[in-house]
Amino acid sequence: MDFVSRCVKGGKDTRTTEPHQLPIYASSSFVLETVEQGIDIFTGNTTGHVYGRYANPTIDAVSNRIAELEAIDIKADAYGILTSSGMSAISTVAIGLLKAGDAILTQGNLYGGTTELFRKVMSPLGIETIFADMSEFNTLEETLSHHKNVKLLYLETPANPTMACVDLSKLSSLAQRYGLITVIDNTFCTPYLQRPLSLGIDFVIHSTTKYLNGHGNGISGIIVGHKPEYYHKVWQAMKLLGTNSNPFDAWLLNNGLKTLALRMDKHSSNSLELAKYLEEHPKVLKVNHLGLSSHSCHQIAKKQMSDWGGMMSFEIDGTVQDGIDFINNLKFCTQAPTLGDVDTLVLHPATSSHLNVDRDTRIENGITDGLIRLSVGIEKIDDIIADVEQALHKI
Ligand SMILES: Cc1ncc(COP(=O)(O)O)c(C=O)c1O
Repeated sequence: MDFVSRCVKGGKDTRTTEPHQLPIYASSSFVLETVEQGIDIFTGNTTGHVYGRYANPTIDAVSNRIAELEAIDIKADAYGILTSSGMSAISTVAIGLLKAGDAILTQGNLYGGTTELFRKVMSPLGIETIFADMSEFNTLEETLSHHKNVKLLYLETPANPTMACVDLSKLSSLAQRYGLITVIDNTFCTPYLQRPLSLGIDFVIHSTTKYLNGHGNGISGIIVGHKPEYYHKVWQAMKLLGTNSNPFDAWLLNNGLKTLALRMDKHSSNSLELAKYLEEHPKVLKVNHLGLSSHSCHQIAKKQMSDWGGMMSFEIDGTVQDGIDFINNLKFCTQAPTLGDVDTLVLHPATSSHLNVDRDTRIENGITDGLIRLSVGIEKIDDIIADVEQALHKI
């Protein structure tokens, strides 16, 4: 081989033993041994990797692992489709399953980005969204009998930032009676704490950016389903919209998954300890933590979750400025607009996630001036409490 060609194709391939850890397959395409092999793969007669937007071995290893976790207690085999973000998991599943004229039935307290997606992107495409109270079953039945075009029930539980829950078994039975496809955002719980497929839900989506990755170093999402009749539609939407993940983010996610159970146990015990501390604090009006019997969704959470998770919020007895001062006074906890990382993260919804929501609507939804959202980390709980204590003391 000439020098020039050796630059491109030279060097001995020394691969013999299998790598211990999942390799990053940084390759946009895969070699076809023969034309016939290519034809077989493209016509679906055989499986094989051909192009990175369709599938990639690193991505497949991770999506299969998450699908397995979500489906551990159902009989069917589940499939996972890893996407470029949590948002693209939601848009891919919705666009893959719905067409113009169809409608989505959902709750009012979704993650803000999801509500925006439904209003600003899906609506102009002719897919309407109906917002309803998911605990009012009579009203839901009435809505469904009047809106025959509702095809998808989209849920999120627990929901930001008050930790409100919806009853997944009851809602999946209702959806089955009306022939609706059910999708739930399981980001806050992960399959370690809540497994919606076993409660009759058709699709689980995640922002894997959060607890599943756990280390705040990648953006990705996943769609997990178990009904073969929907697989092709959703996979095709991912392939044609180009919402696929990439091998590096998938690899980072794979590393995070290894410690998921350990992390979720610690997130759960730390958040409960902090919630109990805050419940007794004279400057705190209310604590929203599912482990406290005072939370209105304590019983639903107990029924469908195996532990409480790391998310919580609490209300400072004060003004918007007190909320701002509290956050600015923190020294150990970090202010960052994400959740589910190993370190404790705080947010003041009135001046961040809900800054553009008018005050009356915000307060009506439990997002008061002094509400603080916490994604409680896995650090030593004494350090977290000491920081919260000193920051509260200064306001
Ligand atoms: C509950 C929930 N779902 C979905 C998303 C969107 O995820 P991503 O930022 O990975 O697109 C978020 C982001 O914060 C979220 O909190």
